[in-house]
Amino acid sequence: MLLKFQFLHFSTAFSPKFHKISAPVIRITKFRSQMGSSSYTTSSASSSKLLFRQLFEKDSSTYTYLLADASHPDKPALLVDPVDKTVDRDLSLVKELGLKLLYAINTHVHADHVTGTGLIKSKAPGVKSIISKASNAKADLFVEPGDKICFGDLFLEVRSTPGHTLGCVTYVTGDGHNQPQPRIAFTGDALLIRGCGRTDFQGGSSEQLYKSVHSQIFTLPKDTFVYPAHDYKGFSVSTVGEEMLYNPRLTKDKEAFKNIMANLNLSYPKMIDVAVPANMFCGLQDVESKAS
Ligand SMILES: [Fe+2]
Repeated sequence: MLLKFQFLHFSTAFSPKFHKISAPVIRITKFRSQMGSSSYTTSSASSSKLLFRQLFEKDSSTYTYLLADASHPDKPALLVDPVDKTVDRDLSLVKELGLKLLYAINTHVHADHVTGTGLIKSKAPGVKSIISKASNAKADLFVEPGDKICFGDLFLEVRSTPGHTLGCVTYVTGDGHNQPQPRIAFTGDALLIRGCGRTDFQGGSSEQLYKSVHSQIFTLPKDTFVYPAHDYKGFSVSTVGEEMLYNPRLTKDKEAFKNIMANLNLSYPKMIDVAVPANMFCGLQDVESKAS
């Protein structure tokens, strides 16, 4: 098990004192109707601090990310791309750090592992699952481009990055006062470190993926951190600027990229027939189908 502990520090020093959770979390999710609202930031001097953990599931080489607003009394938190096999580890960490888990979020319907969102919901009642509306999967909440997922005074912005699958999104930390700098992009399989997700299943399209990465990720500031859903070579993080320079696929022109993707000759994903149907129901296909 690989556990990578990282803090992104902002204006206030981290206090190791954990707060007992007793009050409801003040702000939950602000969707597109609140776009333009400044209510997710404070007008006082910057005080938010992101607590950030990168976690790894070795069988599928999947990264799960835990984020929380450590400055908020309740320490509201979310998990990005949890895996069913490592749900207990993730929930233990949430408990140890004194966090209030609000959301279990997927970047897309995964084909190589079963999502942990359904298990998390059963073990931690009150947690809401989130996926993009375009995925056509089931979840408690659906997001669309431009939506904001708030946790405390911090938020993730939703960017549409289809191409690996039809419903892929990239979640990017907020831009503005009181938000982490540099920004952080959770790119799912749209952009991997020195690579990208395959485009031959689940409504994939190399042309669309090229457009998504160039228009939605490569337009972010170059110092934006890139944290993907997987890595198979031992990388843990990159930046937008680094991938714009060194990604062997996405630095090519569109036709060359499409040619590369059409000639990968990848084998049929071994988990796809189990994972995709399950992930259309938060990873709990059997429970859902028995209930209906
Ligand atoms: Fe994927």
